[in-house]
Amino acid sequence: MSEETLSNLLNETRRFPPPAELAATANVTEEAYRQAAADRLGFWAEQAARLHWEQPWDEVLDWSDRPFARWFTGGRLNVAYNCVDRHVEAGHGEQIAIHFEGEPGDSRSVSYAELQREVCRAANALTELGVVAGDRVAIYMPMIPETVVAMLACARIGAPHSVVFAAFSAAALRSRIDDAEAKVLITADGYHRRGTVVDLKPQADEAVDGAESIEKVLVVRRTGQQVPWQDGRDLWWHELTDRQSDQHTAEAFDSEHPLFILYTSGTTGRPKGILHTTGGYLTQVSYTHHAVFDLKPDTDVYWCTADVGWVTGHSYIVYGPLSNRATQVLYEGTPDTPDRGRFWHNVAKYKVSILYTAPTAIRTFMKWGGDIPAKSDLSSLRILGSVGEPINPEAWIWYREHIGGGRCPIVDTWWQTETGAMMIAPLPGVAATKPGSAMRPLPGISAQVVTNAGVPVPDGGGGLLVLDQPWPSMLRGVWGDPERFRDTYWSRFPEQGYYFAGDGAKKDADGDLWLLGRVDDIMLVSGHNISTTEVESALVSHPAVAEAAVVGAKDETTGQRIVSFVILRGGREEDPGLDAELKAHVTKEIGPIARPRQIQFVAELPKTRSGKIMRRLLKDVAEERSLGDTTTLTDASVMDLIAAKLPHAA
Ligand code: WT7
Repeated sequence: MSEETLSNLLNETRRFPPPAELAATANVTEEAYRQAAADRLGFWAEQAARLHWEQPWDEVLDWSDRPFARWFTGGRLNVAYNCVDRHVEAGHGEQIAIHFEGEPGDSRSVSYAELQREVCRAANALTELGVVAGDRVAIYMPMIPETVVAMLACARIGAPHSVVFAAFSAAALRSRIDDAEAKVLITADGYHRRGTVVDLKPQADEAVDGAESIEKVLVVRRTGQQVPWQDGRDLWWHELTDRQSDQHTAEAFDSEHPLFILYTSGTTGRPKGILHTTGGYLTQVSYTHHAVFDLKPDTDVYWCTADVGWVTGHSYIVYGPLSNRATQVLYEGTPDTPDRGRFWHNVAKYKVSILYTAPTAIRTFMKWGGDIPAKSDLSSLRILGSVGEPINPEAWIWYREHIGGGRCPIVDTWWQTETGAMMIAPLPGVAATKPGSAMRPLPGISAQVVTNAGVPVPDGGGGLLVLDQPWPSMLRGVWGDPERFRDTYWSRFPEQGYYFAGDGAKKDADGDLWLLGRVDDIMLVSGHNISTTEVESALVSHPAVAEAAVVGAKDETTGQRIVSFVILRGGREEDPGLDAELKAHVTKEIGPIARPRQIQFVAELPKTRSGKIMRRLLKDVAEERSLGDTTTLTDASVMDLIAAKLPHAA
């Protein structure tokens, strides 16, 4: 990455120290960094001891077969026992685990004792179907409590789950079922989204038709709609689970027993089945949730708005929060149903104190305007989290002011499906946060920013983000493809043995980290490296802009030219002067080299379900190609609108 890019990057000088009360009562303090620096493995052993182990481990880390790590070798534990039973045994059975909020407004609260009974019934049901430890179970479910129950039941019997987003197509589900050779599919009749009932069972049927590994399909009744049925293969979840005992003895599994496979959304290539295992994974998701959200289980109400089909849902709806005995909100629907204040009505209704969401959502709320959250009582909030992509300073400040009332620390958490748990994030009681920076690696985690040659850059420099030490929740491989695991993550810096994250990053003068986005999102304009994020940040720092996506399109003279797609804030009309004004604004913020050649005003941007802008599709439009694969888009019609608007004379 060039010097220009780095020195131009966010000239951000604002600092937000933690509120005094939070600093005084924080779960984790500065001391954790010192302790972990002095004895990293000893530190992780202490965090593992926050869990219940049926049998203690022999060795904290076995790294002899790198890059295949083994953590807490010889130790045995049951994940579901740790997430549910031990809280009931400790006298917290009446505490609410899940406040379920259906999109139509129906709600249901599930206590830890009820969750335990449901998980036991489901574990017995799966056992009756012949599922044994090691068998894979596919889960294609909406955001309802049964999804959490299904995942925990799988964990309880040692059957790795493979959760597939409900919004994914039958073809996507089929390829994941085949790749993992899943024996059972758990799905639902349908779900509520944007005020309508969405079918799920027909897609599940299409996926399963001819899938050799699938023996049974379990169907949860959510909407009560009519569903196609295949006798002998299909079973109603409630019929099967209702007749099971609510007692089940959890067997302890080896620390390295597979817990789940999760396919990365894969903006390119065939999806990879990322494999996570038991002891190290639970240790790190539990510790990071405790440390970064400062969860006080007796008083906090936590809400992570991600879908369980995404790793954020696995780690920070299911395993992290439940292992810490959180009370949490699980919301089925979209933020704009029945109106654009739905998230804030939910926060007020359940008195949510910790909110974890994504920059794409925050920018959408910005676009809708601050008067919408202002109508709800958000005074229960005390910590705000962000995940999924770099958060622009403007969005960060808006989140802090309009949602956090200027008093809640923002924890920007960098991690990946592959890392399993948070890696770089501020501790809310320790860090003086900077808008747009994920700050530094968490205690026990080590990351570096290196040059293309693998040499660490000094403070103030930038380059590629690598992880130079193994961590407990690291992926253990790509399902069925050890070569792909080595190639994708470990072949970039073979001599140093670094894990290559694929992200660009900058270190500021204090050594704090600023994530720049995927390195394949770096544009090359007249020989200068410019990150799409950097230009997007500059655009959204203009008061008229709510959201921006930038791509580099092929250009005969400059190599690439910068094409930007801009959504205006509520109330702003596009006018001819604005185009020039925005270009001048980027020039002022970054320099003439980053000035977009084209600015296109659009109503929506193409995004994956996990909120990532699909720049690849925008690039197809900008380069006048026919569109590539759009199956992971939330709403494919968005692209027609954008393509129709773009004048193809550059
Ligand atoms: C990629 C991983 C981690 C769960 C959600 C996404 C980007 C994620 C941040 C952040 C800047 C971020 C990175 C990363 N990313 N969080 N706080 N700041 N970038 O999981 O789909 O595996 O994507 O998301 O580019 O590599 P994922």
